[in-house]
Amino acid sequence: MTIPLGQTNRQWRFAKRPKLGDPVSRDLFRLETGDVPQIGPDQMIVRTICLATSPAQWGYLVHDNGMFQPLAIGDVMRGRGVGEVIQSRHADFKTGDIVTASLGWQDYSLQDPTKQPPNIKTILKVENPCRPLTLALGSLGVDGFAAYFGLLDIGKPQAGETVVISAAAGGIGSVAGQIAKIKDCRVIGIAGSDQKCRWLTTDLGFDGAINYKTENVGERLDMLCPDGMDVFFDNVGGDILNDALAHLALKARVVFCGYISTEYQPGIVPGPRNYTKLLSQRARLEGFIVFDYVDRFPEAEQQMRRWLIAGRLKNTEDVVEGLDAMPDALASLFTGGNKGNKIVRVAPDPNGLPSLS
Ligand SMILES: NC(=O)c1ccc[n+]([C@@H]2O[C@H](COP(=O)([O-])OP(=O)(O)OC[C@H]3O[C@@H](n4cnc5c(N)ncnc54)[C@H](OP(=O)(O)O)[C@@H]3O)[C@@H](O)[C@H]2O)c1
Repeated sequence: MTIPLGQTNRQWRFAKRPKLGDPVSRDLFRLETGDVPQIGPDQMIVRTICLATSPAQWGYLVHDNGMFQPLAIGDVMRGRGVGEVIQSRHADFKTGDIVTASLGWQDYSLQDPTKQPPNIKTILKVENPCRPLTLALGSLGVDGFAAYFGLLDIGKPQAGETVVISAAAGGIGSVAGQIAKIKDCRVIGIAGSDQKCRWLTTDLGFDGAINYKTENVGERLDMLCPDGMDVFFDNVGGDILNDALAHLALKARVVFCGYISTEYQPGIVPGPRNYTKLLSQRARLEGFIVFDYVDRFPEAEQQMRRWLIAGRLKNTEDVVEGLDAMPDALASLFTGGNKGNKIVRVAPDPNGLPSLS
């Protein structure tokens, strides 16, 4: 595909630096129209098809947490997406390839595979892509892989064990819980509305759910996990982590995936008061970064694809249309406005009809 003459590139740029604790709002960004980039040696131009949202994107705006470089005012907003290579001068990629990469909130991006961080390949070719392509940002993408490796490699759930998941109706949580069910565990989800709790138990097969906004989490864990929990997959930190620590079974594993409830708040992130339970229960708490597993992404992709095709894993994506929706889609992660993986579709799939194969 060549770039049509006169084609422009819509771009969301970072306009105003928020303070920690501020809500995500549209006025932090401005939508501009620029030129489609010019290709150089070893580079390629990628047309965005869909873009992921992630709480980490808020982190790009506010602070340097040691994991990613904060953005400067005027930069194109950073974000991962799925796109089609429309021009390539790199030997490993050809026109028509589908890739996932940090495309940014824009229609077209210049990608340079020679400039990837030395130890992490972040421009990944999607081999034999599943349809819809949004899957490559959900169950068959980085969020799905975080659920897969976090739960299986760190949580190591055994059949019959009790697994509890926070932000269970979110992108990573909804996949982690389903994998725990596939592994024959009892699964309890914690989420922020009755509607989400019903979705977890009726549609995704969870054994129980707790609405942390209206119920006492500690009391509900007493009822639902009378023998304690063997695995806690934590996406939120804060009070929920504290309540969970008080309910660990002997030799429990706490998978530290994220801490959205405290990560972007002002002040020092409070530590959990109940951390002493790790000692009395001979338990383990371990953090992970999904890109540590990049060499094993194909293993996760193949397994998750088999589960999807067999109907054992439901695609829990929550898709909204149009580049214009990006700021609101990101904001929804912090207000619980998403159910499953929030993804924004920017342009049509070049191959048309969606089907899973
Ligand atoms: N370790 C890694 O490699 C890795 C990779 C990607 C993401 N992460 C982390 O994994 C977590 C989940 O990410 P995701 O992309 O799948 O997001 P997500 O779960 O789809 O969205 C975030 C969810 O968190 C809940 N939430 C928001 N504020 C909360 C609060 N104050 N207290 C409790 N729950 C709150 C909301 O659901 P409710 O309606 O239930 O409140 C919201 O739906 C995040 O912490 C993220 O930073 C880690």
